[in-house]
Amino acid sequence: MNDQHKGRMTRDGIRIHEPADFAGMHRAGRVAATILDDIAEHIYPGQTTGEIDRLIEEKVEAADAKSATIGYRGYQHASCISLNHVVCHGIPGDKKLKGGDILNIDVTVIVDGWFGDTSRMYVAGQLPRKAERLIQVTHDALFKGIEAVRPGNTFGDIGHAIQAYVEGHRMSVVRDFCGHGLGRVFHAPPNVLHYGRPGTGAVLEEGMFFTIEPMVNLGRPETKVLADDWTAVTRDRSLSAQFEHSIGVTSEGFEIFTLSPAGRFHPTYSQG
Ligand code: MF3
Ligand code: CO
Ligand code: CO
Repeated sequence: MNDQHKGRMTRDGIRIHEPADFAGMHRAGRVAATILDDIAEHIYPGQTTGEIDRLIEEKVEAADAKSATIGYRGYQHASCISLNHVVCHGIPGDKKLKGGDILNIDVTVIVDGWFGDTSRMYVAGQLPRKAERLIQVTHDALFKGIEAVRPGNTFGDIGHAIQAYVEGHRMSVVRDFCGHGLGRVFHAPPNVLHYGRPGTGAVLEEGMFFTIEPMVNLGRPETKVLADDWTAVTRDRSLSAQFEHSIGVTSEGFEIFTLSPAGRFHPTYSQG
């Protein structure tokens, strides 16, 4: 066995990590989550997504971490910022936020070689009622998926829990993007689908690390990628939301590596 990669691989190519590896993932996850906590005060009408990204890059450096996205397949930013009908992989730029805009901010950092990947929803100004419903359902769908994480369950159980919940609220689950294994790499097997049938797919084992990151649309599930080759939008231009946690499978169930230290994963805005 190679010392740098203790643990083993399943038949599906999913790495089984050692108990000691959980600490590294918790450190990386905490840095990413703290950045998302601290960026909340910078989200307001008139702010640009480029400035938000610049502040995130500063916070990554201040934490002695590295951005996993800068230089990843040519991507040049420390975050993805996905506004309104943008499903994911929105590129920060000069565009100013307007009151009532909703946005997902997705940050991945590397700390001591471990990857922490998380995203959550924010609003500029007042949150519109139908966006509030979409965001709540998307958040709760992520947790339906997380609650299906335990040894012996399958990835299909996770996808099914998410899909059933979302469709029960007459919203749709995006099929074109999925969660992923991670650890000492950004994207590894398996593809974590946010839809599926119970009992199908690979069986979960203690020591697996992966993200769950459902994208939910108010309209139809279809997406298209814009000419910039990154930005994915809903084909019908309906509003889309996403939440993401990085998770590890334990003997009892799961640990969330990207929990918000400030308890602000959702809502990120004040309620009432
Ligand atoms: N953080 C995204 C994910 O959840 C990936 C972003 S890749 C980028 O997997 F290059 F677009 F930043
Ligand atoms: Co991810
Ligand atoms: Co992400």
